[in-house]
Amino acid sequence: MPLEGKVALVTGASRGLGRAIALAFAGEGAALALCARREEALQRVAGEVRRLGRRVLAVPADVRSPRDLERLVALTLERFGRVDILVNNASELGPTPLPYLADYPTAAFDDVLQVNVIAPFRLTQALIGGMLLRDQGVIINVTSDAAITGYPGWGAYAVSKAAIEGLTRTWAAELAHTGIRIHAVDPGDMDTDMHRAAIPDADPSELARPDDVARAFVRLVTTRDPDSAGRRLEAAALGR
Ligand SMILES: NC(=O)c1ccc[n+]([C@@H]2O[C@H](COP(=O)([O-])OP(=O)(O)OC[C@H]3O[C@@H](n4cnc5c(N)ncnc54)[C@H](OP(=O)(O)O)[C@@H]3O)[C@@H](O)[C@H]2O)c1
Repeated sequence: MPLEGKVALVTGASRGLGRAIALAFAGEGAALALCARREEALQRVAGEVRRLGRRVLAVPADVRSPRDLERLVALTLERFGRVDILVNNASELGPTPLPYLADYPTAAFDDVLQVNVIAPFRLTQALIGGMLLRDQGVIINVTSDAAITGYPGWGAYAVSKAAIEGLTRTWAAELAHTGIRIHAVDPGDMDTDMHRAAIPDADPSELARPDDVARAFVRLVTTRDPDSAGRRLEAAALGR
């Protein structure tokens, strides 16, 4: 199995794409560290990983909290000794119905940036030292087409995804000539709670299933393509 012996940390793993990535990685042999705020749903996913025969650690954590992130990293390293793959997947959409910028509450704007940009930055910083020591690692920041298209109402979310793509490019430039790869991956429109909250009248049959999209993440971590580092990649183009 291609991920046998690897340890992956996936944020926002209690449902949607994060859950699907956790199960897909476990299916390929990885041990998993998972986080989300709500413990019950997170433990359900941990149970699914265990039933696949993989080791799993579920840590309830709000990625906005530096203390929660420190605890998540400490418990993960205590349990597994290292992290080979980090997926910064947890994300905050912002207020719904999606407000135009003229009405966008500043506190909500700040909240979205904390979850979608600052937390991935902190978590990457916390884990990069170990990856550099081993000279290997894969980091995936989950982005969106809102990063590159101006959709009305997607204010802070769009800004946050543009920022995570900028962060990814800078990390990649700084990590060039190391064994660490970092990518930004746009999963495309998926049938998840977030999509339902954003566009309640979307036709689910026209949306991708997170389980199918997760296969593109497996492909990315198991295929070495040096030219793709730092680039914005679309899951659909990675193959499923
Ligand atoms: N769905 C789409 O169509 C779509 C399209 C493009 C990009 N994306 C991106 O794909 C990724 C996954 O989206 P999704 O649709 O699967 O989202 P989702 O269904 O809303 O799931 C979000 C996950 O993140 C967790 N989470 C949210 N805030 C958190 C916080 N402050 N601390 C820790 N965990 C937190 C949630 O659990 P708790 O609530 O329990 O914390 C949940 O596990 C996101 O990065 C999103 O921006 C999605």
